[in-house]
Amino acid sequence: MSSDRMALRAFRHLVAELFGLEFTPASLAELQAALRLGLEAHRLKTLEALFHRLEGEDPAGEAWRPVRERLTVGETFFFRDAAQLETIRAQVFLPIAAQERPRRIRLWSAGCSTGEEAYSLAIMALDIFPEAQGWQVEVLGTDIHEGSLSQAKRGLYREWSFRGVPPGFREQWFHESRGHWHLQPAIRHHVQFKLHNLVQDPFEPLTEEGFDLILCRNVFIYFPLPQRLRIAQAFLKALRPNGALVLGHSELGHDVAGLFRVEKHPDSIMIRAEGHEAPAPALQPAPQPCAHAVGMKPRLPSTAKHHPPKPRNLLKEASDAMAAGEHGRALKISQSLVSAAPRQEEAVRLNVQSLANLGKLAEAQTMLTESLSRNPLSVPLNYLRSLLASEQGQTAETLKSLDRVLYLEPDHVAARMDRAHLFEVWNRIPDALKDLDRAIEILGRMEGQDPVPDLEPFGCEEVLTRCRELRERCRQAGNGRAAF
Ligand SMILES: C[S@@+](CC[C@H](N)C(=O)[O-])C[C@H]1O[C@@H](n2cnc3c(N)ncnc32)[C@H](O)[C@@H]1O
Repeated sequence: MSSDRMALRAFRHLVAELFGLEFTPASLAELQAALRLGLEAHRLKTLEALFHRLEGEDPAGEAWRPVRERLTVGETFFFRDAAQLETIRAQVFLPIAAQERPRRIRLWSAGCSTGEEAYSLAIMALDIFPEAQGWQVEVLGTDIHEGSLSQAKRGLYREWSFRGVPPGFREQWFHESRGHWHLQPAIRHHVQFKLHNLVQDPFEPLTEEGFDLILCRNVFIYFPLPQRLRIAQAFLKALRPNGALVLGHSELGHDVAGLFRVEKHPDSIMIRAEGHEAPAPALQPAPQPCAHAVGMKPRLPSTAKHHPPKPRNLLKEASDAMAAGEHGRALKISQSLVSAAPRQEEAVRLNVQSLANLGKLAEAQTMLTESLSRNPLSVPLNYLRSLLASEQGQTAETLKSLDRVLYLEPDHVAARMDRAHLFEVWNRIPDALKDLDRAIEILGRMEGQDPVPDLEPFGCEEVLTRCRELRERCRQAGNGRAAF
């Protein structure tokens, strides 16, 4: 493979990691076009050189700008998708207007491009929640593209931005000057724009006060499914009680009905935040998987890397206690953590694991089921459920949970190995081989000493050797079966 082809492959992974944009072989030309702009801007000749120049740079910084701005497509216009906006008016705004509640409305246009969507929401909301009646309307527009945001802040638009509006709309809210249409300050001062990368940046600084509506459409198109699900879940946590997340029709992918409370409308899907008492709890840290996979010793539970200081120390204490076999102490500490922060994934995991270690399987099961109902997309908790089910000999449930883990995180090596083992036991050898091949492929992309999540302290090389052994065993079993 030429070094440029290798660099292109490396860029595909890097761009997916940094921006959540996934390029298939069919859309690779788009990526190449963006990288060409990068080559020009940095006066470099090869993709390999460009990779070395950009790798390690801040994705929101100057070095990435030419590539980033070409990669993100900013097509938008005022009152785009009128049917969807009508759904928002009827299903979200009017019910809020009818409620007795503080007269403050907060809306978020995520992936707002040059601002037409955020301003459309502001115009629509101000019609239903007039300032004169004491309503306060606040709209946030965020995007990854600085150029688009600067344009949005200016509030200046050309003809093309009005291609979807009814007659008279433009004249009502804008005034024309030298070929540009200026939005009235009375609308503009309700809208704020901020640079924010949905894939990389934390949500908390934006979401502390919660939103009544989050609109995110035509943004998810290049994101892989697990990324979409993670972002959707973070959005849901940022909603006020009874707030709504609205996405473009089919943007979330199929088969998510079991994961979210989805309302389908002709042009959009709406997911409600019922039951959220507090606005915007903190975004969960990156998954910290647990326990063991086929034939490997259980790893020591890892401590979370991204928690605030206090829980982090207690987590470490609980984790150390468990590693030392002091399950009663681990249980006590993790229980206090869970009472303080019932959504804290790592605390729940330690708590469930300590209960299981003490033989309190029913209690462990109840705690896990409750936590999963609050956090159904948690990879570590779903993986833990597979382990608990396996412990209790519930093979169908084990498989279901492993399927879910792999649906959420296809590169989860431990789950691949566990599932391969189940398939092997059930004599589904081709399925077992498929999972092992995939695990070997994933491990092949890692460095030899890298710890493998959920299989720590084993390094990648050891796990790879184990996978190959299992594969060989399955292959021989497959051949043996074929000989009969
Ligand atoms: C096609 S526009 C959609 C604009 C508007 N939502 C609409 O539907 O009219 C997609 C926008 O998503 C933004 N975007 C892409 N990836 C993003 C990311 N990771 N974080 C935030 N915004 C992103 C792009 O910069 C672009 O402005």
